[in-house]
Amino acid sequence: MFRPAFSAAQRRCFSVSAQQNSKVTVLGAAGGIGQPLSLLLKLNPRVTELALYDIRGGPGVAADISHVNTKSKVTGYSVGPEGLKAALEGAEIVLIPAGVPRKPGMTRDDLFNTNASIVRDLAKAAADHSPNANLLIISNPVNSTVPITAEVFKSKGVYNPKRLFGVTTLDVVRASRFISEIKGTDPANEEVTVVGGHSGVTIVPLLSQSNHPDITGETRDALVNRIQFGGDEVVQAKDGAGSATLSMAYAGSRMADSLLRAAQGEQGVTEPAFVESPLYKDQGCEFFSSRIELGPEGVKKIHPVGKINEYEEGLIAAALKDLAKNIAKGKEFVKSNP
Ligand code: NAI
Repeated sequence: MFRPAFSAAQRRCFSVSAQQNSKVTVLGAAGGIGQPLSLLLKLNPRVTELALYDIRGGPGVAADISHVNTKSKVTGYSVGPEGLKAALEGAEIVLIPAGVPRKPGMTRDDLFNTNASIVRDLAKAAADHSPNANLLIISNPVNSTVPITAEVFKSKGVYNPKRLFGVTTLDVVRASRFISEIKGTDPANEEVTVVGGHSGVTIVPLLSQSNHPDITGETRDALVNRIQFGGDEVVQAKDGAGSATLSMAYAGSRMADSLLRAAQGEQGVTEPAFVESPLYKDQGCEFFSSRIELGPEGVKKIHPVGKINEYEEGLIAAALKDLAKNIAKGKEFVKSNP
């Protein structure tokens, strides 16, 4: 059964047949995330056209996935500006997992030098050829690559903050799984709001708002630490061969599906995402992840953080410091390297 960890309502919605044409584009489609992500999108009946682009191996992955007997059409595009243009034109959603992943000992910020220019260049192409698509940035450091994308779109006069999302879904996926391991429950019934950004201490799980506000003391500290640094477990276990790819593909496909459901009129679709947000703008954080209600125009409503305890206030204060620096670094990069 596809997506077993989804709620019954989500599964019901997922099984209805597609009602409109939805082209979804993946940039970086032949990578560790790109391949399983593209496969999951091929299984989604709401996707009618799947456009796969990579600087290596896009057409091969597309040929392979195109044999899966679901309705959508799959196309792999040739490398270069023309292929990229064709991949992007008409897209409703563009997912970007292009770039290098971490190796043991690296933070996400260590990827900045390589990934900043990759994301900047792909953002330029997206601004030119699919300015109205929902843009889902997976490439790390998300805390900086999202501001980079925003600056590129602004420079081309097409920025719409409602359409730009840093994908933080994996943090809530991990949080619900890890809390269920402690409590012996079904993770499908565990919702943990995670706010802030997408790296280390900027990832702030709000356990006081979960089903288990009773988790305190050392157990709480260890759980929060595991949610913040869960990605490191995968990086270490893969031992130099990359970071999370399969769980990330699942999370990315869930986020894309939520946007498609919202675009097709479903009400109350909510996902966390790192978006332009008023919540902590006055503290230097123009972007912040919180629960976002999605609609046909992208972001419909940014939920406030809500009632939190003193411990969580401390976590947010620590997160804001790093986050403000990460955001400024992204913006500065585009200014100095337009
Ligand atoms: P990977 O190295 O396996 O794949 C990256 C792919 O991007 C490669 O196929 C490469 O050819 C392609 N690529 C590079 N430059 C490109 C360009 N200019 N245009 C098109 N394609 C290009 O890496 P993996 O494991 O798939 O990770 C990708 C990114 O996702 C990394 O930055 C990683 O840190 C990030 N990530 C984000 C997560 C999140 O929660 N947001 C979770 C896990 C990883």
